[in-house]
Amino acid sequence: MSTVIRGGTVVTHDLSYRADVLIEDGTITQIGEGLTGDTELDATGCYVMPGGIDPHTHLEMPFMGTHSTDDFDSGTRAALAGGTTMVVDFALPQPGQGLLDALKTWDNKSARAHCDYSFHMAVTWWGEQVFDEMQEVVAKHGINSFKHFMAYKGSLMVQDDEMFASFQRLAELGAIALVHAENGDVVADLSAKLLREGTTGPEGHAYSRPPQVEGEAANRAIMIADMAGVPLYVVHVSCEQSHEAIRRARQAGMRVWGEPLIQHLTLDEGEYFHADWDHAARRVMSPPFRSKAHQASLWAGLQSGSLSVVATDHCAFTTAQKRTGVGDFTKIPNGTGGLEDRLPMLWTHGVVPGRLTPNEFVAVTSTNIAKILNCYPRKGAIRVGSDADILVLDPAREKTIAATDQQSAIDYNVFEGQQVSGLPRYVLSRGRVMVDDGTLKPAEGHGRFVARAPRGEVSRALTSWKETTRPRPVDRAGIPASGV
Ligand code: URP
Ligand code: ZN
Ligand code: ZN
Ligand code: ZN
Repeated sequence: MSTVIRGGTVVTHDLSYRADVLIEDGTITQIGEGLTGDTELDATGCYVMPGGIDPHTHLEMPFMGTHSTDDFDSGTRAALAGGTTMVVDFALPQPGQGLLDALKTWDNKSARAHCDYSFHMAVTWWGEQVFDEMQEVVAKHGINSFKHFMAYKGSLMVQDDEMFASFQRLAELGAIALVHAENGDVVADLSAKLLREGTTGPEGHAYSRPPQVEGEAANRAIMIADMAGVPLYVVHVSCEQSHEAIRRARQAGMRVWGEPLIQHLTLDEGEYFHADWDHAARRVMSPPFRSKAHQASLWAGLQSGSLSVVATDHCAFTTAQKRTGVGDFTKIPNGTGGLEDRLPMLWTHGVVPGRLTPNEFVAVTSTNIAKILNCYPRKGAIRVGSDADILVLDPAREKTIAATDQQSAIDYNVFEGQQVSGLPRYVLSRGRVMVDDGTLKPAEGHGRFVARAPRGEVSRALTSWKETTRPRPVDRAGIPASGV
């Protein structure tokens, strides 16, 4: 059975042009004028784009004494409903647990996925077992990206020596390093001080994680990665301080990418000072939302290319879960949702007012990350031979975001009441129509794991560069005799 998407404008990261797209057996087989197929999808007035890739989700994540509520069922339904056709989640070993063991847990959870997915591996502790298993994770399990938490002291946080050891191992294996950049020691100290002095509400969360803790950690990770010779991807860049560190590093030729979240681009720190405790606590995530000046910096980064990807860090907790932190903001589970809203929010606040072009929209929601994670052009592309993961975005379709209409299983939405446009008319996952004229047609278990090979182009270039410039001993013919 073939499907043709007819009458739309194909929009990729580099081009926009009128064409039909033919799909057979889950793959794009022709792009051109006047194509026909067994099933025809009318894309008149729409943009035909690579489906979104969200490289930062935490589905059913064990965290802060609970589990995030959206799992691979509700999470990937939310993804598809918003035009995202692939998510990359984090396999999280408990301290002392092996990487391969943790991976089995994530394999089981992901069996319910409605769209394709991949994993990053987290390095939450360091030892011989981790060092050894990294090789198998990369070579046999199709994972080429490893996350390091510089925050969450006492649980997920790793120290600089562990990070440097891990980064060097990743350089050997041709993988890339990811960091959650916040100085966890300073956060722990500031939090304790705020609690002692009587700030117990969600505003304490924002006060305990000022932009400096993020900027310092981002800069530290960048320098450690450069010394280890590994490409670095900084997740959830929320402020000018860490953006500045990334910008400076990129200008100096270092291989660093930055990922702002749609939440940080569109919501600000005022949320934490809301009179309603629930309202504020629902928005507690790390790093916290920032001021308008920081938002302007993030938008400028997307426009200039110093920031590369817009993600969500989707990690959704119910109001009841958030209430664990009544009386102590450090116990509020950290995380917010966003999977269903990332693309419409970015279209509405990015493309509609003219901050981003449609091509830049595709680049930061799909193509750039497919290249960084080494799954391009299978994903992130409208090309013959690519998987038919396609978003037919209708710029005229509008809605008001409401928790009552969402796929996410939680009881609120941080974007509640936002008017958005740029909604999916169709979403296809490997050729299967998952959103049909705006209506979700879920298929639990349809999603497949996307294996990603190591030694992508940037990894190879950086390895060569580090070999070219590595320290070499000076060959001295006439070494003077020692002593007198
Ligand atoms: O607050 C957040 N971001 N929760 C999810 C875990 C993480 O730090 O990415
Ligand atoms: Zn294995
Ligand atoms: Zn994080
Ligand atoms: Zn995260």
